[in-house]
Amino acid sequence: MLKATFHFPPDFIWGVSTSSHQVEGGNENNQWWDWEAEEGHIKGGDRSGAACDWWHRAEEDFDRAAEMGLKSLRLSIEWSRVEPEPGRFDDAALERYRSMLEGLRQRGLEPMVTLHHFTNPRWLEKQGAWINEGTIAYFARYVERVVQALGHEARLWCTINEPNVYASLGYLIGDFPPGHHDLKEGLLVLRHLLEGHAAAYHTIHRLQPTAQVGLAHNFLVVEPANPRAFLDRTAARLSDWAYNGMLLTALQKGLLLPPMGTAYLPHLRRTLDWIGLNYYSRIHLAFDRHAPEMLYTRIVADEKAEMMDGNYGELYPKGLYRALKRLARLNLPIYITENGIPDADDDRRPRALLLHLRQLWWALQENLPIRAYYHWTLVDNFEWIDGWSLRFGLFELDPATQARKRRPSADLYAAIAQGNAITPDLVEAYAPEAWEHLYPDAGAPPAEEAAL
Ligand code: FCB
Repeated sequence: MLKATFHFPPDFIWGVSTSSHQVEGGNENNQWWDWEAEEGHIKGGDRSGAACDWWHRAEEDFDRAAEMGLKSLRLSIEWSRVEPEPGRFDDAALERYRSMLEGLRQRGLEPMVTLHHFTNPRWLEKQGAWINEGTIAYFARYVERVVQALGHEARLWCTINEPNVYASLGYLIGDFPPGHHDLKEGLLVLRHLLEGHAAAYHTIHRLQPTAQVGLAHNFLVVEPANPRAFLDRTAARLSDWAYNGMLLTALQKGLLLPPMGTAYLPHLRRTLDWIGLNYYSRIHLAFDRHAPEMLYTRIVADEKAEMMDGNYGELYPKGLYRALKRLARLNLPIYITENGIPDADDDRRPRALLLHLRQLWWALQENLPIRAYYHWTLVDNFEWIDGWSLRFGLFELDPATQARKRRPSADLYAAIAQGNAITPDLVEAYAPEAWEHLYPDAGAPPAEEAAL
């Protein structure tokens, strides 16, 4: 069997990704803090608490990322710290972020700065947050302040993390705050998030013409439960459009299409300098006439699928290639802003990492314009409704003592980043069970995907 080395392009960026509420600790002024406090919302009654204590010691973890040979780190700014009351901005908070970004650059880590990653200031949430059109202007004002304060430390901006996840989990499925179940609301929230993104895009470029501004899109591979059943195929296609396609079409062409709306919004057009991809999993959907709110679908488990910890979803590395092929139709540079696996004992992460990177390598061979890969995540952090039960870190964290322990995957990822390649030695050392999937052509590209 031919055991080749997979090389990555010389300027490829290896990084890690995280978000404010999940790592900073003490974010008591946002809606997630309140949501966590209510019984039944978070697995095991867990709280974010001190999280990874980044507000006080992020730099220790920056050292870890730098020492691994990484070149970039994605983090987010906590709106509730920067603007604790409407119109009152906290200079000390902005200064803390400025020093973090400076610390990253001093360590050779280019910051990627996300401006909204699921959390809202409490005052905004009380008014309905993204249900209201007025939030778009509030967001633009906050972004303006942030860019004024931090613009000389960062030029890579991610406006909003996963609008589709925020809208669907908060307003349709109801697992995220505010816990609503209303498709109409979800679509309105999605529309406002897109408009917020566009407003931020224009604001950032006005202040910093050389900025590179994008958004992180959660791409879920959606398949019909029974590919031979017409109704399953149609239902899956509609959900794929609503989850993956609709929002990207809006930002590319300025077209709001059903079910989100029917309008031409020119200010939305071409508001991406790059597109971010957060990829984790795939789902199979069957037609369900009793579920109009779920666009007439229900999720059907695939018995053959390998599931991740805590039923997080199917481990499906080929989906990364498929997602990249779809996003490449936008003709924009692609940043893989998140990809990772919950795996507390790190017995699957090395294989999962290798198999995903192998898919990325395929896509690069086809000259897809992929610039970066950010692994989610550096250190175990507060995983939203799953609390501390899901562990995505290359480093293990004991939230009670703040002690970190390096997992073997950290060594593997560091070796890949430093060598800019996957070598047979690494496969042998970290996940020999991956051989059969890596070579010789187990990752051959699947058939073409449907249109965006
Ligand atoms: C993504 C979120 C991120 C993290 C990962 C596991 O959907 O953007 O905050 O929770 O999932």
